[in-house]
Amino acid sequence: MSGRVVLVTGAASGIGRAVAEAFAADGERVVVADVAMEEAEKAAATFGALAVRLDVSDPASVEAALDTVTDRLGPVEVLVNNAGVVAGGGPLIDLPHEIFDRVVSVNLRGTFNVTKAVAKRMIEAGIAGRVVNISSIGARQPTAGLGHYEATKAGVDALTRTAALELAPSGILVNGVAPGPVYTPMTAGLMDIPEARQAWESRIPLRKIATPADLTPLVVFLASPAAGHITGATIQVDGGQLLT
Ligand SMILES: NC(=O)c1ccc[n+]([C@@H]2O[C@H](COP(=O)([O-])OP(=O)(O)OC[C@H]3O[C@@H](n4cnc5c(N)ncnc54)[C@H](O)[C@@H]3O)[C@@H](O)[C@H]2O)c1
Repeated sequence: MSGRVVLVTGAASGIGRAVAEAFAADGERVVVADVAMEEAEKAAATFGALAVRLDVSDPASVEAALDTVTDRLGPVEVLVNNAGVVAGGGPLIDLPHEIFDRVVSVNLRGTFNVTKAVAKRMIEAGIAGRVVNISSIGARQPTAGLGHYEATKAGVDALTRTAALELAPSGILVNGVAPGPVYTPMTAGLMDIPEARQAWESRIPLRKIATPADLTPLVVFLASPAAGHITGATIQVDGGQLLT
């Protein structure tokens, strides 16, 4: 079998699904790893990938999923930590603790859990692999009402840097991609309201809300041999929003 084993978390929907499909189109052996198993199976069937149930917030679920992937395809060579939630929103002084704990457990702890388990296996198998973490420009530019979510993405950026440093001796490269607003099922509810969409667009110098296809080329590039001297970087794909 040719092609690398590429595992994308949260690949049943939105950005993760588009990333998984792009790797599959390049001939990689792709794993659609998600808690939403029915959607994961549907997505995987459309582009010839393997669907596995994986809850990033649960280390036991991560290990079980990786055992399945290793048995079926071999060890993971490229990991995309994409699974994420917003879980709600509001000013920090009103935000329920449960919402804060949920975003931390999926976005931050989840990225830690999967990176830890996959990188350990890469080192054991002697794989000079790649890890790409899907962050957000919210880690660097605040939006009122999203502080809980943005804090997790700032944490993800810190994990990206430390993991890059610690895994460099093993030849494992770790980078991040930080999208601005992207039209996906996560954001469609808001973006379909014309005034809300206009408010989002007005913050973007290129005046366009991204689609998942705007993100996939950078993710694929960071996993490619051409990106062999890039590690610890988190690169924004935001139509210039961080310039404002
Ligand atoms: N959409 C945006 O505007 C935007 C902007 C910046 C960053 N991001 C980030 O991009 C990533 C993907 O977002 P999206 O917009 O495609 O969202 P989405 O809601 O369309 O997809 C997220 C996927 O993650 C899965 N998921 C949720 N919890 C999980 C868990 N515990 N374990 C495994 N899978 C889980 C969901 O089932 C879903 O399939 C997220 O990390 C998000 O924070 C999105």
